[in-house]
Amino acid sequence: EHLPPHVMVLFGATGDLAARKLFPGFYRLAEDGRLPADFRLIGSGRHSPGSDEEFRDRVRQGLEDVVEHPDAEILDDLVSRVSFQTSNADDGSDLAAAVRRAEEELDADVEDVRRLIYLSVPPGAMQGMIAMLGRERLTERARLVIEKPFGLDLETARELDASLKEVVDEDQVFRIDHFLGKEAVQNILALRFANGLFEPAWNRETVSSVQIDVPEALGLEGRGSFYESTGALRDMVSTHLSQLLGFVALEDPVDFDAGTLRDAKSAVFAAMRPLDPARVVYGQFEGYRDEDDVADDSEVETFVAIEAFVDNDRWRDVPFYLRTGKALAEGRRTITLRLRTPATKIFSNQAGCNDLVLELTDDPKITVELQAKRPGPDMELVEARLRLDLVDDVPDGDPLEAYERLLLDVLRGDQTLFTRSDEVDRLWQVVQPVLDNPPSVQPYEKGSWGPQAALDLPQGGWRLGG
Ligand code: BG6
Repeated sequence: EHLPPHVMVLFGATGDLAARKLFPGFYRLAEDGRLPADFRLIGSGRHSPGSDEEFRDRVRQGLEDVVEHPDAEILDDLVSRVSFQTSNADDGSDLAAAVRRAEEELDADVEDVRRLIYLSVPPGAMQGMIAMLGRERLTERARLVIEKPFGLDLETARELDASLKEVVDEDQVFRIDHFLGKEAVQNILALRFANGLFEPAWNRETVSSVQIDVPEALGLEGRGSFYESTGALRDMVSTHLSQLLGFVALEDPVDFDAGTLRDAKSAVFAAMRPLDPARVVYGQFEGYRDEDDVADDSEVETFVAIEAFVDNDRWRDVPFYLRTGKALAEGRRTITLRLRTPATKIFSNQAGCNDLVLELTDDPKITVELQAKRPGPDMELVEARLRLDLVDDVPDGDPLEAYERLLLDVLRGDQTLFTRSDEVDRLWQVVQPVLDNPPSVQPYEKGSWGPQAALDLPQGGWRLGG
């Protein structure tokens, strides 16, 4: 596949995301031969990490820490294309000059060079940076990747969107939500729409509730100041978990292109009922206030559980339970469709319900938990499972890591797996009642499943953690 020459600019280049995901994403694309034949990668930020040489060493070191057995030649080539230029919202002139120099170095007409500008900066810094890009005309021939959260509430998201619309068109904007790059998430569509077995059952007649459960075992990982300004609702729920809900709940999109798929997802969010703060539980793990950069009396939530509803024909009155939190008992990413128990009474020991479970973890799986006859002389039911391993059982796979996949989509200009302005706006409307009237945060022990009130939220309990 031929991709035009690119100059890529990465704001937040010395940050955590760049080290853990973005540089490794570029490396893996290079290894798979999927990067443009010619490109330059300019890291940027307010503070210089030293000379270009020092920045390259840092990138190389970071890659050697994250990527297993990197190929020396590919690493050298990638690192040789990297440089650093300081910039800030008030002054981007040096950066603009560096971008133009890099464009001239490429073996192409400058008009044919594309720009990929990745804004991995906190929500509060985003608007100023976008205005600067516009002033410096760096938005020409550019695609802008915007990290989440998009704003901090409905009002700031709208301001941010307005400032974007002043400098670029929507088809240049790639609001990234890396959960949409996970193979298993795209598999929700394959499961539903390519198999006659599932879609007919995918509605309120058969499904009694849905759980979208993303507990994390990890704590803050040194991201105290980020968490203090965002909290789990904005970091995870109005973004990743809601996007999963969108994929689970959408109507047949008819086509798999950016327009129709995002229309279908947007229709789900439009039908979502704004959250009822009385059905939201906030938690904070014990010890959070002792973390670096966290206020002694912080009320920020590190845990959220919510009940949501999609008020359309397919899902009316089916509760969607969403849960996530830091420092919990396990790290999992699980979607469970809890199926209604058949009305028949012929089995005396028919137990519980059936669950259709999608595991989105690094080892993704789809499992149907069902009842089967225990082998033997008696008609006795036991729980059994049908299981599809989405990597081992599917031939000739070459799975891409989420960021790798999404970076490739930006290079190709494919917005299908990115979120659109109307979706984001609506999701802020849905969570705004909770931002206006937040429940009080309840302490929970590290390594637990969160506050008691959250355990009691779904009728019948959570599938994970009991
Ligand atoms: C990020 C959040 O977007 O997603 C983190 O900011 C979270 O707080 C992470 O840990 C989870 O991503 P993944 O891919 O590890 O499930």
